[in-house]
Amino acid sequence: MSSSSPDERTLVLIKPDAVGRGLVGEILSRFERKGLRIDAMASRTMDGDFADQHYAEHVDKAFYPPLKGFMTSGPLVALVLSGDQVIEVVRGMIGSTDGRRAAAGTIRGDFSLSNRENLVHASDSTDSSKREIALWFPELG
Ligand code: CMP
Repeated sequence: MSSSSPDERTLVLIKPDAVGRGLVGEILSRFERKGLRIDAMASRTMDGDFADQHYAEHVDKAFYPPLKGFMTSGPLVALVLSGDQVIEVVRGMIGSTDGRRAAAGTIRGDFSLSNRENLVHASDSTDSSKREIALWFPELG
């Protein structure tokens, strides 16, 4: 079978609130049932410097200090997922940033009531996926 272009990849973080609430299996299962591949997976706890690198575009925002505290508060699960148009597909599956407004059927819509503790992060563009995968999984580069 010939293939025109390799599948896209995206970086996903199952955040400390999801780990603490025992939702890792539920969230992974949704991605697997969708047909996405898990190319890498690791449990990590971010320190402050790493959080500043991951969230480089947000470090000057008012919501960043509490976001940093939350994201460094405990272990998270970092994933690289691949599949056809995976960046857009995963963004759709996780829903809008604010869990109170995210559509039912999305991960945030079904399980989050917060715009900070919103369970999952996913790359929002090909540029950010390349940058985030290089940061989290340099061995995949
Ligand atoms: P994420 O997709 O990881 O990208 C940036 C994160 O900042 C976002 O999910 C939320 O966890 C958080 N965030 C974005 N906007 C706000 C906000 N207005 N108040 C609090 N947290 C926010």
